[in-house]
Amino acid sequence: MRVLVLILALLPGLAMADDKRVAFYAAPALVESGLIKHIAPRFSLKTQVRVEIVDDPAQAELVLGPEGRALFSGLGETWHLDLRSDTKGAQRFAEWLTSQVGSRTIQSFAPDGDALFTEPKVQKVVVAKVEMTGDAVAGQEASWAKCGRCHVTERGRGGFGIGSTPSFFVMRGFEDWESRFAGFYFLKPHAAFTQLEGVTDPFPIDRPSPIAPIELTLDDLEAILAYVAALAPADLGKPLEHQ
Ligand code: HEC
Repeated sequence: MRVLVLILALLPGLAMADDKRVAFYAAPALVESGLIKHIAPRFSLKTQVRVEIVDDPAQAELVLGPEGRALFSGLGETWHLDLRSDTKGAQRFAEWLTSQVGSRTIQSFAPDGDALFTEPKVQKVVVAKVEMTGDAVAGQEASWAKCGRCHVTERGRGGFGIGSTPSFFVMRGFEDWESRFAGFYFLKPHAAFTQLEGVTDPFPIDRPSPIAPIELTLDDLEAILAYVAALAPADLGKPLEHQ
């Protein structure tokens, strides 16, 4: 009986503890960079939630590593947030990391004067979903209609393309052209004006698209990928403006 009383007395304390702490694991490269020491105290100060670093990802409620939602890029990789628990503490940390304040805090980390981390380069989840099944002919039209305002998307169909914007032929020459196209809506400058149906969030109410938005579906994107796959890459040895 005494044991039971003790447990009951402890329960509210336990619940409190979960609200006020989060067991956290970050990939060693991130810890060594000093990033975690930079962000954890700032988050804790703001929320009173304590970040407890654990050595084993299996025991963590939240992990920064290769899986989950793309959060930022740096040190040659894109880092993802993997939320594994629904305790208040873990949720608040995830919310903070994905908030503007959180990403600004991460991107302002510059131990030697240069920022180490940027916005995520490619959103892994969606890249995996897009497959080369689209119809290249439909993709040619979609490219011209949706991207041709800024990019030259085909030869001999004039009047479009902004000189300083790389042509599709130039970009086809990039070794990682496929992941760049699959995640283009996430890469600058597109995020501000692109809506990918069922994937992107609506534009924030205080930041509407600055230009007529591009709206496309995953089918459009797959078709564009099929079209670009079929293009002969430009010869990158020549000056870009001639391609
Ligand atoms: C309003 C102008 C505009 C439109 C419309 C546009 N882009 Fe771009 N895009 C740019 C600019 C400018 C760059 C170069 C950005 C840079 O170099 O940082 C770019 C770069 C890219 C890149 C390379 C990104 C990188 O970081 O490697 C890809 C891929 C791309 N665009 C795909 C597309 C596709 C696909 C569409 C149509 C569905 C499209 N863009 C529509 C302006 C545009």
